[in-house]
Amino acid sequence: MRLSQSVLFFSTLLPLALAKAPTKSGSEVLFGQSGTYPRTTRLADGTLLGIYAKYADGNSTLTTVRSTDNGASWTQNVGLVDTATTASRDLDNPFVHQLASGRVLATFRNHDRAGDGFSYYRITVCYSDNNGASWKYLSTPASLPGGINGIWEPFFQTALDGSLQLYYSRENSDDDQDSILQRSTDGGATWSSPQVITGMEVTARDGMLGVARISANSAEKLAIFESGVNGRFTINTQRSPDDGVTWTTRALLYSTYSSATSAGAPQIIRVGSNLVASFATNEDGGVWPSGAMKVMVSTDGGHKWGDKTTIHVDPAMWAGLLELDDSSFLALYGSGASTYAQKMVF
Ligand SMILES: *[C@@H]1O[C@H](CO)[C@@H](O)[C@H](O)[C@H]1NC(C)=O
Repeated sequence: MRLSQSVLFFSTLLPLALAKAPTKSGSEVLFGQSGTYPRTTRLADGTLLGIYAKYADGNSTLTTVRSTDNGASWTQNVGLVDTATTASRDLDNPFVHQLASGRVLATFRNHDRAGDGFSYYRITVCYSDNNGASWKYLSTPASLPGGINGIWEPFFQTALDGSLQLYYSRENSDDDQDSILQRSTDGGATWSSPQVITGMEVTARDGMLGVARISANSAEKLAIFESGVNGRFTINTQRSPDDGVTWTTRALLYSTYSSATSAGAPQIIRVGSNLVASFATNEDGGVWPSGAMKVMVSTDGGHKWGDKTTIHVDPAMWAGLLELDDSSFLALYGSGASTYAQKMVF
């Protein structure tokens, strides 16, 4: 058949179909001093707004940083979202996201401590109308009384209909945690009730969610998360065909070769036609959850993954990702006392 032969001939030559490992562009740069859990987003004005959990002077402080040169350098201490003594409150897991209105939201875990445990759990949302310089309280989409079961690692994405989606992880018991989605149609002021999107059919600790669309403005998207059984973690995905209304196929993305090691703390972004998934792993060394930051690449919308690439050896923890353009991205990680940004190119 002449037609199918020619289709086959051209498809084998298409460069888009070839996976390719990303490589480092330049050296790592300081993202945020004295802290962990780095995240960043591109604002409408073209600058990058970053956030991390800073630990200094006995306080935990959710601190914003800014880059006006596409991540090559970062201005420290641009804004303060919230601060408290580390002994009294657990402020961590921050995430920043700009709405179409220009308002920037920050969400984070905001737990009251009681000794070694917690007396109250919250996911809090604050807002800034000056690109992250000053912040005010907006809402508490989720809270739980103290005890062993908490809520963790919030993540924002704007839906195709303009509503706001908040993803986070909620413990059911010591060995079981599910992935949750709540929606807001008023810019994060009020929230829908929780929808469980992963974990209802398994007893495992699903956590540390990230979500990416498989192509620009596609309703099909992929949530990535770690899943832990008996303290051993693997990287998994759950697919939604309809922008998060339903969540269908659960799949294993990456598992370390040895059952004595783990892969966890993932994130996911789309860079041009590639999906890039990051995770931490101690497969080359490190005492879990400390490990190296690695990425894998998918060219088929997240079905097959390959080109495993080490961004930074152990320790490189609680990593974040940001696409810079169709062929480059930033990898963010905590290493030692501070957080760093490494530019990667395809
Ligand atoms: C530490 O947090 C407290 C509130 O708990 C605040 O009053 C104080 O100013 C903070 N200190 C610093 C150095 O930010």
